[in-house]
Amino acid sequence: MWRKLKNIFGEIAQEYDAWYDQNPLFLSEIKALRALGEVPSPGLEIGVGTGVFAKALGFKYGLDPSPEMLSLAQKKGIFCICGVGEKAPFKDHIFKACGLFFTLCFVSDPRKVIRECRRILTSGGLLFLGFIPQESPWGKFYEEKARRGHRIYRWAHFRKGEEILLLLKRERFSILKGYSSLFQPPSTQPYEEEPQEGLWPEAGFWAVLAIKN
Ligand SMILES: C[S@@+](CC[C@H](N)C(=O)[O-])C[C@H]1O[C@@H](n2cnc3c(N)ncnc32)[C@H](O)[C@@H]1O
Repeated sequence: MWRKLKNIFGEIAQEYDAWYDQNPLFLSEIKALRALGEVPSPGLEIGVGTGVFAKALGFKYGLDPSPEMLSLAQKKGIFCICGVGEKAPFKDHIFKACGLFFTLCFVSDPRKVIRECRRILTSGGLLFLGFIPQESPWGKFYEEKARRGHRIYRWAHFRKGEEILLLLKRERFSILKGYSSLFQPPSTQPYEEEPQEGLWPEAGFWAVLAIKN
């Protein structure tokens, strides 16, 4: 599946990057992720895309199968590596932080990716996650787009928030903190939101911090 996605994201890289520019939804998501705390260095974002989250949060390294997405991330000062999260091309225990933002829903085997995070993280390393819970109004909104054949979302597989947390626990991560954002419904004129502590099913964005046990 990653080959297909590599081409699709490659075709829309510029457009994808431009969407984030001063977007209140992005600013709300960043606020929720920053509430989790500082990203220790060195940090790697898996599925870095054009590097908007990596740059805003301080991840120095980015992994992605799409060279077009990576070339835009590189321009933001991210050190880029081409590859997939299921088989991360790194030695064991070298990163103090891993990030996964809007990427788990696009990988064919999320468990494998989490396992790879565990392998490349140092002991006590941190995993930062940002995703759309399937049960939220935003999850349903994007699933509807997928059903209608949206060129990107039809490849996404959204999961319930609890399912993702269970996946982390099964791979021996402990959840340290969670913040929610995007309580606004998808249909309104988007506005910037302050994050709320806790993981709420009605929120369209969950920011989760987990530690490798
Ligand atoms: C929705 S974008 C998210 C990009 C970035 N994290 C952001 O939030 O702006 C998903 C990214 O995952 C990448 N991707 C797809 N399959 C992947 C895989 N198996 N391993 C790592 N990245 C993958 C895509 O190329 C794309 O850049």
